[in-house]
Amino acid sequence: MKNLLVTGGCGFIGTNFIRHLLEESDFAGKIINVDSLTYAANPENLSDIETNFPDRYLFIRADICNRESIAEIFDKQQIDSICHFAAESHVDRSIVKPDTFIQTNIIGTFNLLELVRERSEQIRLFHHISTDEVFGSLGNDGFFTEQTSYKPNNPYSASKAASDHLVRAYHKTYGISVTISNCSNNYGPYQFPEKLIPLMIINALKGKPLPVYGDGRNIRDWLFVRDHCTAIWKIMKEGRKGETYNIGGNNELENIKLVEMVCDILDEFEKRPGNKSRRELITFVKDRPGHDRRYAIDSAKLQQELKWEPEEFFESGIRKTIKWYLQNQKWVDRVNTGEYQEWVKEHYHYR
Ligand code: NAD
Ligand code: DAU
Repeated sequence: MKNLLVTGGCGFIGTNFIRHLLEESDFAGKIINVDSLTYAANPENLSDIETNFPDRYLFIRADICNRESIAEIFDKQQIDSICHFAAESHVDRSIVKPDTFIQTNIIGTFNLLELVRERSEQIRLFHHISTDEVFGSLGNDGFFTEQTSYKPNNPYSASKAASDHLVRAYHKTYGISVTISNCSNNYGPYQFPEKLIPLMIINALKGKPLPVYGDGRNIRDWLFVRDHCTAIWKIMKEGRKGETYNIGGNNELENIKLVEMVCDILDEFEKRPGNKSRRELITFVKDRPGHDRRYAIDSAKLQQELKWEPEEFFESGIRKTIKWYLQNQKWVDRVNTGEYQEWVKEHYHYR
C-alpha cells in the first residue's frame, strides 16, 4: 500500500487511525485524507501531522458524493488502497433528518465502489468501516457474530447496512478486493461531543444536566479507539479478501453505570464547586425512538485468525479519555460553537 486513500480522516476514528498509522505502525506509504469537513470534522486534529509528515500526509477537501472530484484524486494521487471511514455517524441526527445519511453512507460508498471497479488493476484493497448496529438489538444473552443476520433499527444503521451490502456485492460480482469490519462503540480522544461519553464529560464540567435516555439500562460494548485502529490495520494487512471481521471490546456496560463512572472520575480529578457529586446532574429524558437495547460483539474470528486483542481496560481507557478532554479545552470550545450549538438547542430532547 503506497498511496492509501483515507476517507473521513478529520473525524473521530479517522483522525486516530491516521495518527496510529503514521506515528506508531509499520505503514511505510503515503496517506491521502479526503474529507468534506462536515460539522463533525476538525482538520486541526491533524495539523501537527501535516507539519511532521510533509511527504507522507496530504489533506484534500472533497465530498465522496461528488464522483468526478474523487475520480480526479484517484488518478492524480495514484491511489492503490482505500480505508473508508467517511459517513454521517450519529443515530440521533439520523432520526431527525435522515437525508444526508442516505446520501453519504449509501451513495457516497457506491461512488467509491464504482471508481474502484473502473480501476480494478490499480486498486489492491477497499477496506470498509462499519458498525455492529447493522445487526439490530440483542436480548439479555448472546453476541453478534459475523453470521448474525442484519436487522438495522434506525436510519443510520440501515444506511450502513446498505453500504455493507454494496461492498460485499461488488466483491462477489466484480471481484474487487475488499475487507469489511463491524465495530462496537468507540471512545477516546477527538470524539465529537454529541456522542454519549464526551457529551457527559463536557456537560458535567459545566454543571449542566446529563441527559440519560429512557431507563438508562441500554448496554453498549465499549472499545478504546486505538484498539479499533490496530484491528483495522491488521485486517487491512492480513485479512482474507471478501471477509467480514467483528471488532469489540469485551466491555459491556449499562449507560447509567457508565455515566455514574464518568461523574465519579471527574469528581476525583476536579472537585465540583461546593464539593457536590456530579451524579446529581443525571437527568432521565424521553427515550430515543427505536433505541437498541443491547450490543455485544463476539470478535473470536479476529482474535483467532489474526491474533488481535484489545489492549486497553475500560477503567484505564475512560480515565485517559477524561484527562484528554480536560487537557484539550481549546478543542472542546472550538467544536462547541457555531452550527453544533444551534442544532443541540433545537434537538436536545425527543418531543
Ligand atoms: P465522525 O462523524 O466523527 O466522522 C465522520 C467524518 O466523515 C467527518 O470528518 C466528516 O466530515 C466526514 N464526512 C462525512 N460526510 C462526508 C462526505 N460526504 N464526504 C467526505 N467526508 C465526509 O465519525 P466516526 O465516529 O469517526 O466514525 C467513522 C466511521 O466509523 C463511520 O463509518 C462510522 O459508521 C463507523 N463506526 C463508528 C463507531 C463509533 O463508535 N464512533 C463504531 C463503529 C463504526
Ligand atoms: O455501536 C456502534 C455505534 O456507536 C456507531 O456505529 C455510531 O456511529 C456511534 O455513534 C455509536 O452509536 P450509539 O447510538 O450507540 O452512540 P451514542 O453515543 O449516541 O449513544 C450511546 C448510548 O447512550 C445509546 O444507548 C444512547 C445513549 N445516550 C446517548 C446520548 C447522546 C443517552 O442516554 N444520552 C445521550 O445524550
